[in-house]
Amino acid sequence: MNRSAVAVVLIVLLFLLPPPCASDDRLLLGKPLSAGTTIVSDGGGFALGFFSPANSTPAKLYLGIWYADVPRLTVVWVANRETPATNSTSSSAPTLSLTDTSNLVLSDASGAVLWTTNVTGVSGSSLAATGLAAVLQNTGNLVIRFPNGTTLWESFEHPADSFLPGMKIGIVYRTRASDRLVSWRAPDDPSPGSFAYGVDPATLLQLYLWNGTRPLMRDGPWTGYSVASRYQANASAFVYQAVVSTGEGIYLTYTLSDGAPRTRYVVTASGQYQLQSWNATSSEWAVLGDWPTRGRECNHRYGDCGPNGYCDNTVAAPTCRCLDGFEPADSEEWSGSVFSQGCRRKEALGCADGFLALPGMKSPDKFVHVANRSLEECAAECTSNCSCVAYAYVNLSTTGTMGDMTRCLVWAGELIDTEKIGARGKGNALRIALPTVLTGSFLIITGGIFLAWLKFKDSSRKVLLDWPTRFNIIKGVARGLLYLHEDSRLTIVHRDLKAANVLLDAEMRPKIADFGMARIFNDDQKNANTRRVVGT
Ligand SMILES: *[C@@H]1O[C@H](CO)[C@@H](O)[C@H](O)[C@H]1NC(C)=O
Ligand SMILES: *[C@@H]1O[C@H](CO)[C@@H](O)[C@H](O)[C@H]1NC(C)=O
Ligand SMILES: *[C@@H]1O[C@H](CO)[C@@H](O)[C@H](O)[C@H]1NC(C)=O
Ligand SMILES: *[C@@H]1O[C@H](CO)[C@@H](O)[C@H](O)[C@H]1NC(C)=O
Ligand SMILES: *[C@@H]1O[C@H](CO)[C@@H](O)[C@H](O)[C@H]1NC(C)=O
Ligand SMILES: *[C@@H]1O[C@H](CO)[C@@H](O)[C@H](O)[C@H]1NC(C)=O
Ligand SMILES: *[C@@H]1O[C@H](CO)[C@@H](O)[C@H](O)[C@H]1NC(C)=O
Ligand SMILES: *[C@@H]1O[C@H](CO)[C@@H](O)[C@H](O)[C@H]1NC(C)=O
Ligand SMILES: *[C@@H]1O[C@H](CO)[C@@H](O)[C@H](O)[C@H]1NC(C)=O
Repeated sequence: MNRSAVAVVLIVLLFLLPPPCASDDRLLLGKPLSAGTTIVSDGGGFALGFFSPANSTPAKLYLGIWYADVPRLTVVWVANRETPATNSTSSSAPTLSLTDTSNLVLSDASGAVLWTTNVTGVSGSSLAATGLAAVLQNTGNLVIRFPNGTTLWESFEHPADSFLPGMKIGIVYRTRASDRLVSWRAPDDPSPGSFAYGVDPATLLQLYLWNGTRPLMRDGPWTGYSVASRYQANASAFVYQAVVSTGEGIYLTYTLSDGAPRTRYVVTASGQYQLQSWNATSSEWAVLGDWPTRGRECNHRYGDCGPNGYCDNTVAAPTCRCLDGFEPADSEEWSGSVFSQGCRRKEALGCADGFLALPGMKSPDKFVHVANRSLEECAAECTSNCSCVAYAYVNLSTTGTMGDMTRCLVWAGELIDTEKIGARGKGNALRIALPTVLTGSFLIITGGIFLAWLKFKDSSRKVLLDWPTRFNIIKGVARGLLYLHEDSRLTIVHRDLKAANVLLDAEMRPKIADFGMARIFNDDQKNANTRRVVGT
């Protein structure tokens, strides 16, 4: 951006932002905030104050947090979503106070409480002396805390429709308390709408976008590791997403690359989960990602391809296909792009049939998580049970100290909401890449392999690979090794090349898996550290 462009933007900001009446970033006891004044975070990123959506007469007033440096009012958090104040008479002007119960209380002029926080057990007339304050941080988080950092409440733990960098969407195992983003009812109505995004309460292992109680979209089960996926907002803005597992719970969070423009995830009033980024050139929110994606045959819409069908996202125009060993239940409908009936088995499954590995698939929904199993035990769980049709496994623990971090997932009956993601996808596939994909080639650190194994009718005739296919596999492996040895930015040596470490996809294209990790160690060296996290 050149200097004149900067000047233009600054002038626009000066005219459009609400007046910064309260220069401070905090609310202290006995110093209430009233309509017309705002609190601006130290750093100028966010503002807390009262806003009134367009077209509300008499004007409804909501307490909210918005971007202070974006010249279009974009509210990321609302306190009194269901209980707006009205601005019809000056006597009903609401105020926000920090009280001597350590709570933020929003009340109208008659004293009626419209909204309050729920802090308990920290009260008394001596509180003022402790320096307790409600501070609007430059992340957009409003926190009630003591100067020593002890935090009593934070708005990030009570999200509205927006998921901001640094926020956590997840679950605490002990209380099963989970956070959900809930859409606005309409673009100009902050009251809770019917769309929500949050943790699946049944399994605690995956995220859903719901319309009421009906799933609209599902991310596959979390593999639980701190991993990074990214979106290219422009050449230099990235979103790094991570699923973090602690002993107490599991959550999804993300950060942005330095200097990235304002970016947020939001559940829109029309039921999309969007990644939006402020484009300063056009002064608009650019939608970088939009789920479920519109205008495609299938793409992340829940159960789009019917039972036992999957959405093939590895091709330019994503399309529904049947899992291996299945065929369309109604081939006429299927060829007319009506997939609701899904697929049926070509041959009935016997009890002692084998399994077919399906790398690069998002695992189906409706699984049962069998706790604390090794890979062999997990396979046995499925082999020994005639109603089990598929299983997937990963052990996320590298140390064995984090409690049970194994994911033995088993399925009975129909396999629904499956998707083929393949190796590093492009575009939309990136979003669900790491935290959600059940594929060995994506797992970082563990080296474990999370494959979905599908029980498969093993025909009596053994399938032998023909020689052209074998040559192609050999050439593919050789090309992969050559790349690792000579062309990749980091020279990588595969120290355990064997048939079991060569994975084949449906097109029999080979993928080399299970790299070891080592550092060059000189003979005069006693120790070495590596800070770089790599894996297969
Ligand atoms: C509320 O009403 C007062 C007085 O009528 C007016 O000055 C103020 O702009 C209104 N505030 C909002 C947010 O509409
Ligand atoms: C406070 O707790 C009450 C009762 O448990 C609940 O209805 C209300 O939604 C809570 N408010 C907030 C802001 O969490
Ligand atoms: C922080 O300060 C508050 C009030 O002075 C006190 O109650 C609390 O114990 C302190 N916390 C820590 C960790 O020192
Ligand atoms: C959400 O559900 C309502 C009621 O079932 C329905 O009318 C609406 O079309 C649904 N919206 C989406 C985006 O699925
Ligand atoms: C692209 O990103 C850079 C920061 O990484 C930012 O300065 C620039 O404004 C962005 N460009 C657009 C058009 O958003
Ligand atoms: C920002 O807007 C400008 C002007 O409309 C457009 O040329 C540019 O591609 C946009 N940048 C991004 C990252 O969307
Ligand atoms: C999972 O892996 C960890 C670390 O390798 C190991 O200690 C633990 O026993 C494994 N769990 C199972 C059930 O195999
Ligand atoms: C997992 O199973 C092993 C042996 O069956 C047991 O020793 C261990 O305590 C179990 N771990 C957890 C976290 O349940
Ligand atoms: C077999 O698997 C099904 C589905 O996972 C499960 O409901 C059932 O309890 C299992 N039966 C046995 C004997 O483990």
